[in-house]
Amino acid sequence: MKRLLALTASAALALPIAPAVAGSPGSPGAQGAGDPYFPAQGNGGYDARHYDLALDYDPGTHVLKGTATISARGTQTLSRFNLDLVKTLAVESVTVDGAAARFTRKDDELVVTPAAEIAKGKPFTVAVRYSGKPTSIIDADGSKEGWIRTPDGVFNANEPDGAKTWFPGNHHITDKAGFRFAVTVPSDRVAVANGELVSQRAAMGRTTYVWAAKEPMASYLTTVSIGDFKLTDTKVGGLRTIVAVDPAHAAAAKRLTQRHGPILAYFSELFGPYPFSTTGAIVDDAPSVGYALESQTRPIYPNLPDDVLLSHELAHQWFGDAVTPERWKDIWLNEGFATYAEWLWADKRGSTRLSSAFASAYAKPAGDAFWKTPPADPGTAKELFEAPVYSRGAMTLHVLRKKVGDKAFFTILRTWVADHKYGNATTADFIALSKKISGKPLDALFDAWLVKPGKPAL
Ligand code: ARG
Ligand code: ZN
Repeated sequence: MKRLLALTASAALALPIAPAVAGSPGSPGAQGAGDPYFPAQGNGGYDARHYDLALDYDPGTHVLKGTATISARGTQTLSRFNLDLVKTLAVESVTVDGAAARFTRKDDELVVTPAAEIAKGKPFTVAVRYSGKPTSIIDADGSKEGWIRTPDGVFNANEPDGAKTWFPGNHHITDKAGFRFAVTVPSDRVAVANGELVSQRAAMGRTTYVWAAKEPMASYLTTVSIGDFKLTDTKVGGLRTIVAVDPAHAAAAKRLTQRHGPILAYFSELFGPYPFSTTGAIVDDAPSVGYALESQTRPIYPNLPDDVLLSHELAHQWFGDAVTPERWKDIWLNEGFATYAEWLWADKRGSTRLSSAFASAYAKPAGDAFWKTPPADPGTAKELFEAPVYSRGAMTLHVLRKKVGDKAFFTILRTWVADHKYGNATTADFIALSKKISGKPLDALFDAWLVKPGKPAL
């Protein structure tokens, strides 16, 4: 599923092209989705609806053999289209609706020319057979992401651009789809992905884990993590909760599972019903990865999370996963909201008062470099996860709450999720909704907190 981005400046400057008429030849789909922070991420001309990923991985040799079967729909008549996939993985074959297609590789793009053009609006199926030894990539901010090897398997975290390290697809945040993962690993390992565990079958020393994520999901929120995990599948507060823990944390597994209940109950009260049919966690032993990630229904942690981190990643299920930014520059809609939810949970359980969380974040002196980055557009891919996106974003919400009152504030948050669940939205959408629900002029507030550099006055 996807919401089309507005025309980019370069597209707007292009010469006018005669409008396509029925029966006219198609044209190639764009090689990116038009996001200024990640120009090559995603692709134009089609909408991915469902991914069926059949993966076979050997943690000993690091060899991955995969078949990705993607159901999509043309959003234009397509002569050719792209999928995002790193060049270090070899592609053996590509078919479109069962017929062999020609393909070439350029940078992180797999360019597919189907035997026959794909008509606008028509559903089609692409199947890609590929293999290789996937590795992680280094982000603009210096973090490792993608297929991150661990001593016993893989810590798989894909924000913002790691999905291309292990499967071909339309990897921009605006193209959400359903997923099914069938992952075969040696039987002494466990493969954990998003959604429900559908089946687990062993044969000849290898086990295939089938996972299904029904609700629409952006590529960056997928995970297929592999390790010597202990897997538990229980109900907590009526919700199927699947938790995988590295043996290093085995003793803490039960308590960790139970800790999901009160946090999700509190957030459901504040933000509206939990948006997915399952929850859980993957708790690895991967100290070299410096962050956790809110993979949909199943956040992944490099170590046992404390309540601050657990509440942060669970809040992302509403803010980030159910409602996803339309462009990466709007990332404060994820991180500012999840940070504010951390503060709400800490206040609720009595560890830190909300007012002190705000006061200590605000206390940074006006000359501190912290105040230079306005959260509404941190600048480039390198600044996506800088501190102001998190805590100045959270402060913005607190100031908004003080201005409009608790009742309007939580109505804004619940309406935000209800209106955009399984889709994408922008900062402008959030400002418009806040004004509509509160009936107050809020431009000056958002301008000072989100747009202008410098420490806002209270
Ligand atoms: N969204 C994650 C979190 O705040 C952070 C991801 C950081 N990723 C990165 N490549 N730096 O929980
Ligand atoms: Zn976060």
